[in-house]
Amino acid sequence: MTNQGRFITFEGGEGCGKTTQIQILEESLKSKNIPVIKVREPGSTVGSELLRKILKDTEGTDWDAVSQVLILYAARRDLVQKVIKPALGQGIWVICDRFADSTFVYQGHTQEIGIDFVRTIHQATLKDFGPDLTFFLDLPPEEGMKRARRRNSKDFFEEKSLAFHRKVYEGYKILSHESKRIVTIPANQSIKLISEKIMKTLQEKFYISF
Ligand SMILES: Nc1ncnc2c1ncn2[C@@H]1O[C@H](COP(=O)(O)OP(=O)(O)OP(=O)(O)O)[C@@H](O)[C@H]1O
Ligand SMILES: [Mg+2]
Repeated sequence: MTNQGRFITFEGGEGCGKTTQIQILEESLKSKNIPVIKVREPGSTVGSELLRKILKDTEGTDWDAVSQVLILYAARRDLVQKVIKPALGQGIWVICDRFADSTFVYQGHTQEIGIDFVRTIHQATLKDFGPDLTFFLDLPPEEGMKRARRRNSKDFFEEKSLAFHRKVYEGYKILSHESKRIVTIPANQSIKLISEKIMKTLQEKFYISF
């Protein structure tokens, strides 16, 4: 019998360091001969990448929050059924850049439909399936904005108001207080310190040695 892989997700506002830390974690796990794949949401299957394009192409589409949730869950179900569950069953770890918590926060908490609507759709499509562990990279929106300015990037933060990013942050705070699955890591520290904390958490939770 093969061991079940672990399903790890990374969450947090734009620019908090998710992709950076996922890259480091993937390399660390591989260097320890732990089989691992990384995926992103929405995406990482043919169908889900198409749905990602449909969601990102905002020219004239104007999906409301409910429609966005339905599209996101079509993409999520495809990824879970075709990639995540089969990998975990073969003992492969899966690291995912955003997952259901992003939908709870971005479509649920920041908009009128609320988190419970998204939870209902989650139950209807995926039952209780979810990550074994989630890292919330906790970067206050004001800090995220400074980071974006340093990068001189116009693609994130400047599209939406600071009030929106504050609401996103508040949503993540609520979820992380509610759930033991979510481990909060202060993200306003060096990349190296953050990655060390991530490794330490994995060692403690899953009794593995790095
Ligand atoms: N701990 C850190 N301290 C300072 N800068 C960082 C840190 N971690 C990442 N960065 C830098 O901040 C920027 C955003 O990082 P990254 O792309 O990993 O964030 P992200 O959460 O994946 O963003 P997005 O939500 O836009 O995908 C990058 O330029 C990255 O090099
Ligand atoms: Mg990223």
